[in-house]
Amino acid sequence: MSTSNTKKTLLVTGGAGFIGSNFILYWMKHHPEDKIINLDALTYAGNLENLRSIQDSKNYIFVEGNIVDRDLVERIVADVDMIVHFAAESHVDRSILEPDAFVQTNIVGTQVLLDLAVKHKVKHFHHISTDEVFGSLELGKDTQFSETTPYDPRSPYSASKASSDHLVRAYGETYGLQYTITNCSNNYGEYQFPEKLIPLAITNILDNKAVPVYGDGLQVRDWLYVQDHCSAIEKVLESGSSQKTYVVGGLTEDIPNIEVVKTILKIMGKSEHMLEHITDRAGHDVRYSVDWSHIKKDLGWEPSVSFEVGIEQTITWYLANESWWRPLLSDNQDYFKKNYQDRT
Ligand code: NAD
Ligand code: TYD
Repeated sequence: MSTSNTKKTLLVTGGAGFIGSNFILYWMKHHPEDKIINLDALTYAGNLENLRSIQDSKNYIFVEGNIVDRDLVERIVADVDMIVHFAAESHVDRSILEPDAFVQTNIVGTQVLLDLAVKHKVKHFHHISTDEVFGSLELGKDTQFSETTPYDPRSPYSASKASSDHLVRAYGETYGLQYTITNCSNNYGEYQFPEKLIPLAITNILDNKAVPVYGDGLQVRDWLYVQDHCSAIEKVLESGSSQKTYVVGGLTEDIPNIEVVKTILKIMGKSEHMLEHITDRAGHDVRYSVDWSHIKKDLGWEPSVSFEVGIEQTITWYLANESWWRPLLSDNQDYFKKNYQDRT
């Protein structure tokens, strides 16, 4: 699906969120000839501060709006070559507390985009998904998720993302939509909302607050530095095969959550006493691990940084950008109370 040398217009959905904003900054740096339209509803997770450096660029347009708004999406899609679809409700804990928005945005919103992509013959629909659609691997085993792993989602979040993946493939089969999908592992890095484990740990430590670890903390995630995720998406957009899925991960060895937190505490010069075990998450998936050998072999992509390097860079960024994350904590007190109260 190579369109790399021609000037393109990309519709990026959810471009004011964590990964979407990193992707827009990455794409505008590496493809300055292209035009980007960023459609984002600015939920609690959307933040235009992330894009301040490019907000006045002539190749960039921001549209505040919801992907379920068919009329609005239709007006935008009529002029785009490619859709890169990030917009989603993305936090598992919020999906446990309030699943409705996950169904609306992740399923219905994706279907609206798909309908209009077909109607307006968009050349390439790229869907950003997650390894969580595959369910949970056993602890202590060396099994991994790959492009052929059957779906087995277990949270409202992962079930809604699995539904969206199925819809994308169905539109490919039924209507001939030219699509690609990436199912990637847990991202971390600059501009991540401090509700997810890594930025939550860093910002709690900076505030001298305990770091909450769910259950025994032996659960495992596959950590992918956000810049490496952006370069993987770039490879797929430029050279991926149509109607194909790529799984993307960042590690080759398991790192339990408790070790992630201890590493952060160590780098920040704090005692392990700041780690606090709290009541486990309902339906907690115990282990994710991604076999990313296929995208490496097929497209020549691999992560550029180790977890040790990526986490240092991330901590340095949060230390230097307190004015970015501090207001997010105060503006979202209700959520933090709801999720963490009565769990010790
Ligand atoms: P995020 O929560 O940081 O950002 C989501 C963005 O989508 C926000 O800017 C929000 O305002 C916007 N949005 C939400 N609902 C919308 C709607 N109805 N219409 C328009 N915009 C809307 O999410 P993220 O971490 O950047 O994740 C981006 C994508 O990557 C998601 O599809 C997510 O499922 C996927 N993903 C994330 C991770 C991760 O570790 N963060 C891992 C794998 C896959
Ligand atoms: P999270 O960052 O929420 O991502 P996901 O649930 O999509 O994997 O959580 C990463 C891991 O860290 C997961 O196993 C849950 C755990 N966790 C905690 O132990 N404490 C916390 O406060 C949070 C937010 C997560």
